[in-house]
Amino acid sequence: MEIHGIKSIKGEFKIPGDKSISHRSVILSSITGNNVAIENFLFCQDCIKTLDILNKLGVKIEKINGNLIVYGKGIKNLKEPEEILDVGNSGTTIRIMSGLLSATNFMSVLSGDKSINSRPMERIIKPLQEMGAKINGRENNTKAPLVIIGNPKLKGKKFELKVSSAQVKSCILMAALHAIGSTEIMQPQVSRDHTERMLQYFGADITYDGKYTKLNPGKKLSAGKIYIPGDISSAAFFIVATLVLKNSYTLMKDIGMNPIRSYFIEILRQMGGKIVIKNQRIINNEPVVDIEAFSSKLNSIEIGREKIPGIIDEIPILCVAAAKARGKTVIRDAGELRFKESDRIKSIVSQFKKLGVDIKEKEDGMIINGDVDFQADEGAVESFGDHRVAMSLSILALLSKGNVTVLDSDCINTSFPGFIYNLKKIMSQ
Ligand code: S3P
Repeated sequence: MEIHGIKSIKGEFKIPGDKSISHRSVILSSITGNNVAIENFLFCQDCIKTLDILNKLGVKIEKINGNLIVYGKGIKNLKEPEEILDVGNSGTTIRIMSGLLSATNFMSVLSGDKSINSRPMERIIKPLQEMGAKINGRENNTKAPLVIIGNPKLKGKKFELKVSSAQVKSCILMAALHAIGSTEIMQPQVSRDHTERMLQYFGADITYDGKYTKLNPGKKLSAGKIYIPGDISSAAFFIVATLVLKNSYTLMKDIGMNPIRSYFIEILRQMGGKIVIKNQRIINNEPVVDIEAFSSKLNSIEIGREKIPGIIDEIPILCVAAAKARGKTVIRDAGELRFKESDRIKSIVSQFKKLGVDIKEKEDGMIINGDVDFQADEGAVESFGDHRVAMSLSILALLSKGNVTVLDSDCINTSFPGFIYNLKKIMSQ
């Protein structure tokens, strides 16, 4: 994708549905006993993989006028898949589905692309095994492909997780729903709580409070309708583009503003970003808002510890804001970035450097010496097949003196199908 520098952006952007909530909506609907209508589902590559897998497990899902109807059939009526279940590039699919499949009464195999099959899976294999699951993985139970022989008699357990991860927590919760006895999960920091919120909306007996979640199994899950709000992690790209460009203003309506996911807005505001939140309401147990962003003079910031799991997906785009901010931005305690779709510390540091950003790699993060007059150099940069790296580089390229080529940009469809359309709209303004 070829991108040229622009002066400003203005207007309203349509942000597609939230990826995390989309995955959860179809998985949880499948195990209800009724039909669930899902509005504004995100038809990105990752979520399509989840739909394909549910299909192979015998769940009927219809698409009518862009919306979905999931014919929930309960876990007991899922059928043994005849093929390997392919998760593609999707960490959320493999981790959440592993929890569910562990509690079935049949065998299944989960595998993905090169990136997925090299990402850490011990973090889900171990806790599931402790609940009695028969799950094994490559390289001494640390990597996918995963082989699961379902066990409908899992046991609830108390977990103290070392790494805060919503995917791991959600995986355990999917198994806990069908286990004997309650399950408790403690995490060192808060992580996104979409599974807890949706489970509560579906009638599960669940309590959660930041770092602590408790689920008592046995409740019948049901829901009639779910609306998926816009993905704040996708909105993040256009919010930062607006802040760093002069004379710019953008509006994004119906965005999910889950308190944990919106730490990122708090950080940008601390940096001096002018962001206005309007029209706050709650839909299906999730806060939804409209967001306005304005050109801003940004200052550097230090980010670490508590906030990291909440902003983990936004760190690449926060690095663009930091490049245009006055002073030294330090991001630490973010070693988890190395286990995403690519090693995001390496990907961001190496490619931002190519475009002239003063950025240094640290074991657990990065240091950026920002400049309010920063203009990106011309050149070609690599995405490493990582959608958030590709989109962050594209926004950085809007600050360029000339043209920037982002190689391997197709991966953007992993999470944000309309991104390139929106970008072209901006460049032709
Ligand atoms: C996600 C959780 C996060 C995030 C990912 C989506 C989810 O991963 O990075 O993009 O939907 O639960 P971790 O749980 O590994 O932090």
